[in-house]
Order: sequence, then C-alpha cells, then structure tokens
Amino acid sequence: MPQAVLTHDDRIGDYATVASGVRLGGGAVLETGAYVGAGALIREGVTVGAWSLIGMGSVVLHDVPPGEVWAGNPARLLRKAFVEELTP
Ligand SMILES: CC(C)(COP(=O)(O)OP(=O)(O)OC[C@H]1O[C@@H](n2cnc3c(N)ncnc32)[C@H](O)[C@@H]1OP(=O)(O)O)[C@@H](O)C(=O)NCCC(=O)NCCS
Repeated sequence: MPQAVLTHDDRIGDYATVASGVRLGGGAVLETGAYVGAGALIREGVTVGAWSLIGMGSVVLHDVPPGEVWAGNPARLLRKAFVEELTP
C-alpha cells in the first residue's frame, strides 16, 4: 500500500500485505500471508510468521510466530489469529 518502505534484503511472502506507511528494516521477512498494519515498524532481521497480523503503529522488535496477532510498542502478543484471518 502507499508509502510503505522496503529496504535491503527484505523478503515478502505470497499473500502478504504491507499497509500504508509501514517500514521494514533490512533483512526483514514477511512469511506467507503475514499482514503488517498501517505505520508499523519492523526491526531489521525480524521475521513475521505466516498469517500473523501486526497492529497499526506497532514497533516489532522480535520474531513473531505464525498465526498470532501482535501490537503495541514494543509489540507483544495480543491474541491468536482467528481462522478467517488465516485464509485469503
Ligand atoms: C491489532 C488489531 C488487529 C486488533 O484488533 P482486535 O483484535 O479487534 O482488537 P481490539 O480493537 O478489540 O483491541 C484489543 C486490545 O488491543 C489494543 N490494541 C488494538 N490495536 C492496537 C494497536 N494497533 N496498537 C496497540 N494496541 C492495540 C486495544 O487498545 C485493546 O486493548 P484493551 O483491551 O487494553 O482495551 C487492530 O487493532 C489493528 O491494528 N488492525 C490493523 C489495522 C490497519 O492497519 N489497517 C490498514 C487498513 S488499509
């Protein structure tokens, strides 16, 4: 989406969503279906697991396992992702 910033060595999986204003540090990985909400910041080298969801404005400092919703600064586990969030 608009004004997202990808940097060096980032990897974006199929069906991943990068919302507006997101910034990915170098070498960040978004696995299949990962959703990064508007304005979130992903630290360099961090992986967001498959079908996980990052809340808007979050600052993600650590790897996020698959199928989880994380939010806040620093981002922490909010809940498990719902099944309907896990499929395209
Ligand atoms: C993270 C998200 C999925 C949570 O949605 P939800 O499961 O419906 O959660 P709720 O709105 O019920 O909030 C649950 C708690 O998390 C907090 N929270 C929700 N989103 C948050 C965020 N982005 N950052 C920090 N805290 C957040 C709420 O304040 C609430 O805390 P409380 O229980 O202490 O009151 C959602 O808020 C979000 O950020 N979605 C992405 C939106 C986006 O980027 N859209 C782009 C459209 S193009």
